Amino acid sequence: MHPTPPDQRLITPLADAYGRVATDLRVSLTDKCNLRCTYCMPAEGLDWMAREEQLTDDEVVRLIRIAVERLGVTEVRFTGGEPMIRRGLVDIVARTHELGAETAVTTNGLGLERLARPLVAAGLDRVNVSLDTVRPDTFLALTRRDRLHDVVAGLAAAAEAGLGPVKVNAVLMRGVNDDQAGELLAWCLERDYELRFIEQMPLDAEHGWSRDDMVTAEEIFAHLERDFVLTPADEARGSAPAERFLVDGGPATVGVIASVTRPFCGDCDRVRLTADGQVRTCLFAREESDLRAALRAGADDAELASRWVTAMRGKAAGHGIDDPSFLQPQRPMSAIGG
Ligand code: 5AD
Ligand code: SF4
Repeated sequence: MHPTPPDQRLITPLADAYGRVATDLRVSLTDKCNLRCTYCMPAEGLDWMAREEQLTDDEVVRLIRIAVERLGVTEVRFTGGEPMIRRGLVDIVARTHELGAETAVTTNGLGLERLARPLVAAGLDRVNVSLDTVRPDTFLALTRRDRLHDVVAGLAAAAEAGLGPVKVNAVLMRGVNDDQAGELLAWCLERDYELRFIEQMPLDAEHGWSRDDMVTAEEIFAHLERDFVLTPADEARGSAPAERFLVDGGPATVGVIASVTRPFCGDCDRVRLTADGQVRTCLFAREESDLRAALRAGADDAELASRWVTAMRGKAAGHGIDDPSFLQPQRPMSAIGG
């Protein structure tokens, strides 16, 4: 049951200088993770955020409430690190759902077997699960953990709990799993999971990304077209980052998120909140706006909302990955949220 939506007249939209309005809030609930994907972080992990730096459950929910009630946010997606390892996740989802927002989680799938049902009971609407391979040995090489079976069980539990159509996100790495694109798609099609390939972005903690090593959308198509016939799904894409294609005439589809080679910044409707309470207007932003400091100094809702609106005005037109002057952000993906 959703409550009465907030009074539109009282909403100040999160508008930027380029006419975009953010309605989709991505909230990172922790920078920690139980996998060690090679394109994300080193084997030994990272220096995790100190507990006192992290927003408490009440602080997170307060900022989400301000975003929904005062700033026109309609969808909240929880990310990490790995959001399933945040103890308060189910409660945070329930309280966000009660605010009337759509709720979603992006997860690596570990813990989903246990949490799918409680999350649905709390009002979770959607889930995206990251899975780059269905071969145990490749999974171990890519994530440095032997946990493929947990992800497979998590996906099944999500579908069973009513979170379908379950979306699967995959990143292809040259020489590691790029030859498995067709195999992964076939596996997802069999189970009615909606697969999307994401171009690898320069967001790894070790700054090892290189444009030449990245598997491009063109290459992804070439791999898939060996086994499948892809035709563009005729649909308005809106702010959705994935371009979707019918597989063998449909109705099943596959998506490609070409963040690097075909950026979609012009249609972006997203804004991010890190686990330590910083507003980031883009994954690649070089500046953050510290809501935690203001919140802990006793700012009221109106002031926090106003700081958020101000932060949005500084949102850049695009990520500029292809510009010679591009600089990778200081924070890695695991501390920003996907
Ligand atoms: N580039 C693209 N996608 C990435 N992910 C993690 N790091 C990167 C990166 N550098 C993906 C994960 C997950 C989602 C949150 O982002 O695999 O699917
Ligand atoms: Fe964890 Fe996601 Fe990073 Fe993999 S990509 S180590 S699952 S945060």
